[in-house]
Amino acid sequence: MRIVIAKDYEDLSRKAAHVIAGQLIMRPDTVLGLATGATPLRCYELLTHMAEEKLVSFRQCKIFNLDEYYSLSPENPQSYGYFMKQHLFSRVDILPENTFIPNGLAENIAQECQAYEDLIRRAGGIDLQLLGIGRNGHIGFNEPDVSFEAFTHLVALDQDTIQANSKFFNTREEVPKTAISMGIKTIMQARGILLLASGAEKAETVYQMVYGKISPDVPASVLQIHPNATVLVDEAAGQRLQEMQNKVL
Ligand code: PGA
Repeated sequence: MRIVIAKDYEDLSRKAAHVIAGQLIMRPDTVLGLATGATPLRCYELLTHMAEEKLVSFRQCKIFNLDEYYSLSPENPQSYGYFMKQHLFSRVDILPENTFIPNGLAENIAQECQAYEDLIRRAGGIDLQLLGIGRNGHIGFNEPDVSFEAFTHLVALDQDTIQANSKFFNTREEVPKTAISMGIKTIMQARGILLLASGAEKAETVYQMVYGKISPDVPASVLQIHPNATVLVDEAAGQRLQEMQNKVL
């Protein structure tokens, strides 16, 4: 695991945008895995600026998103399909047919999950997967106690996640209780991983992910055994890592 500590949210976003831009420049037909949530927002905004300035192009790449709320249509402003369109897809030159998000309206969930895995495989696998991390240690919607063997599947959201995500809804009751998410196995098969965390409220979770026991209790801890994972945090989210490094030195 590589640890990079950025100064603040802006610096973290700039660094993340440059990593993704670099990937697109070096390999225009790359397959990206992207995430939703508050953390990558500024990174996406910076990428749209780079695309406007023709510094990067998404024209040949494919993008697979981590997850989607179950029962929300992509037209619903709370859905992740809508989020991605609003913040990235409609603002860069990506072809709509090259953007993939699990279908939250699928009637046959098992079939939808298998089809999503097949699409990723047929695209050649994910080159670079961007991740956020929940305060409970989730990546995608892989909540504590997840199976490390799971591929894309239907998950029940943790109370902590429902609370955290209620910031995007009018009331807590409106937050869907289930979602379709790439599994830990899907994420671990990505050739590269870039996890972003910002803010002091993530500091303890980040510490457990990096230095804690590898355990389904902290799903992100599995990244310790990924051969090419980078954890990019700002100083606030990395404060416990820095305490640890100071102790070792
Ligand atoms: P956040 O969510 O970026 O809104 O903090 C991260 C996550 O839950 O994975």
